[in-house]
Amino acid sequence: MYTEYHALSKRIQALELGDYLEFGCGDGGFLKYVLDQNISFKSVTAVDINPEAVKSARTTLEAFNVHFEVEENLPLDIESNQFDTITLSNTLHHLRDKPGVFTELKRVLKKDGQIIITEMFSNDLSEAEQSYFRYHTLRAEIDRLHGVFHEMTYTSFEIQEMVSDAGLGISSKEILLNSQEAAPDKIDTAKMEAKVDAMTQAESERPGFLALDQTARDIKAHLRKYGIKRPRQLYMETTIQ
Ligand SMILES: C[S@@+](CC[C@H](N)C(=O)[O-])C[C@H]1O[C@@H](n2cnc3c(N)ncnc32)[C@H](O)[C@@H]1O
Repeated sequence: MYTEYHALSKRIQALELGDYLEFGCGDGGFLKYVLDQNISFKSVTAVDINPEAVKSARTTLEAFNVHFEVEENLPLDIESNQFDTITLSNTLHHLRDKPGVFTELKRVLKKDGQIIITEMFSNDLSEAEQSYFRYHTLRAEIDRLHGVFHEMTYTSFEIQEMVSDAGLGISSKEILLNSQEAAPDKIDTAKMEAKVDAMTQAESERPGFLALDQTARDIKAHLRKYGIKRPRQLYMETTIQ
């Protein structure tokens, strides 16, 4: 999916990665995207709280020499002043303890290192982007029903406030637009409808199912009318203030 954000590629290629940490690596999609087009890394570390995600990332990244760590608790089991570059890609809205995480990331970052954050946001979206936003909101709600911390997509203002609250200064930023839009009533929107259905029907035994089902119907109607597109992201290069 990251290949659909053309401006992101230019940003990634221009980075001097050095000793590099991807925090919240998930299944490794973003990290593979970075390593495929930038070989300026000296070492690569990938951390996630979820052992299943790390297992999947090991497969995605088998062609690279990545040091993986499952870190379920803070403080991180990593020495101070280790990394030149840390990335967090669509991970902010998954972090339960943002102050704790940022305190740790600043500790393990070298003095002149940078933290790169890219995060989709919820304001100024086109109707097609709102289809994805609504789908993501439902997915986050269902994750929360399963006890997984997953907040709604933030506004770009909230994201910048979080960065500032973390004691980071933004040296450069850009709004990244996704180039791929599925038109209404085409195959991609039909696939998406099926995904919404599968996600909702899996919750059919829950007491609150009717409300979920109604939300799913509203999302599908919006999808059929406007199509779907992954939302714009706010990309930021930050340093410790
Ligand atoms: C949406 S995924 C992003 C995956 C990856 N960065 C990408 O864009 O391809 C967010 C990830 O953050 C992880 N996460 C949440 N809280 C975390 C924490 N405290 N420490 C490390 N990872 C965390 C989740 O387990 C999840 O895999």
